[in-house]
Amino acid sequence: MAFRDHFPIFEQKTYFNSCSQGALSTEVQQAYAQYLRDWDEKGSPWELWVERSETARQAFAGLINADPNEVADCTSVSAGVSALASALDFSGERNKIVVSDFEFPTIAHIWHAQARRGARVAHVPAAGNVIPLERFAEAIDERTKLVSITHVCFRNGSRLDVPAIVELAHRKGALVLLDAYQTLGTLPVDVKALKVDFLAGGVLKYLLASAGLAFIYIRKDLVPDLYPTTMGWFSQADIFAMDIYANTPSPTARRFESGTPPVPSIYAGVAGMKLIQSVGLEKIRAEIGEITGALKEGAMRRGFNLASPADPDKHGALITLRSHKVDLLVKRLEAEGIITSSRDNNLRVSPHFYNNQRDVDVLMDCLTKHKELLV
Ligand SMILES: Cc1ncc(COP(=O)(O)O)c(C=O)c1O
Repeated sequence: MAFRDHFPIFEQKTYFNSCSQGALSTEVQQAYAQYLRDWDEKGSPWELWVERSETARQAFAGLINADPNEVADCTSVSAGVSALASALDFSGERNKIVVSDFEFPTIAHIWHAQARRGARVAHVPAAGNVIPLERFAEAIDERTKLVSITHVCFRNGSRLDVPAIVELAHRKGALVLLDAYQTLGTLPVDVKALKVDFLAGGVLKYLLASAGLAFIYIRKDLVPDLYPTTMGWFSQADIFAMDIYANTPSPTARRFESGTPPVPSIYAGVAGMKLIQSVGLEKIRAEIGEITGALKEGAMRRGFNLASPADPDKHGALITLRSHKVDLLVKRLEAEGIITSSRDNNLRVSPHFYNNQRDVDVLMDCLTKHKELLV
């Protein structure tokens, strides 16, 4: 079976919206069916379901080259980062949080919410479609507790130079959180090579599953000194201790978990991650590189303006084009069976390994037809 045939949507549509939601595979469909079968046939197999959440933890750890004890399964990136925020102390001199202007809003909301606990937020402004390293250097100082950056910007596809920013942060004694939602599943991500202290992501997009499952990575040596206040029985050292007279956090990153895990989403998430690993992230990176290259070349040849940086080292799997009326453009494309999305005035086109040159040609022909909506 060719890989594209695992995604029935391509029989009907040209799907280019993986930055928002990965296409549904037959494997993920079957995983949901398996969840219902297990429920139906086994009744209440909680041992099995807790084991499945350990499988998800291991899959996340494998994806980022971490130890499973450094990973907390969460229901969203927001939940994981909120748990992390609750464990950080902003009462002292080191109370500054440096936040890039490329962040997904949820990340900024969480950091601004810490103002009540003594935190000060400093934004690092973009210069067009990039954030120059000097701007991070200006913002990060001896009072910086945390630098919060995204790997690839959800608005324009711009990719930040993570190792260089980490180097700047660590030199001043600050920690780094990387939001890797827009890169996980598109290329190998290695927390040890990137030297990030925390990393968050989820399965909704390029990991090919659906809502309800995400995770946060906490570097091993940081775990013992971090005490989240967003607790629950799944964050305890012994989940089944059922002790209402104490709070005994897990010695591992599981202390960042909370209540009952999202079991149906875990079935789907494990299936999506398995599919990605079976193809291989180096291969996926190469294929996405070819398709994004063809998209940029096709757009530039027709005189359409890229909102993403053109340099392949400076963008992710998301390519964006400038438009006058982007909502109308997304609707026109949809009417012709092409699924894209928009942010700001940018048309977002986000291929995955399941896209091919024919998809690029179909999109370019349709964009040419509606070129009055492009800038
Ligand atoms: C970069 C990035 N971070 C975070 C999120 C969403 O996080 P959550 O799982 O909290 O909804 C998205 C989703 O669109 C995203 O693109």
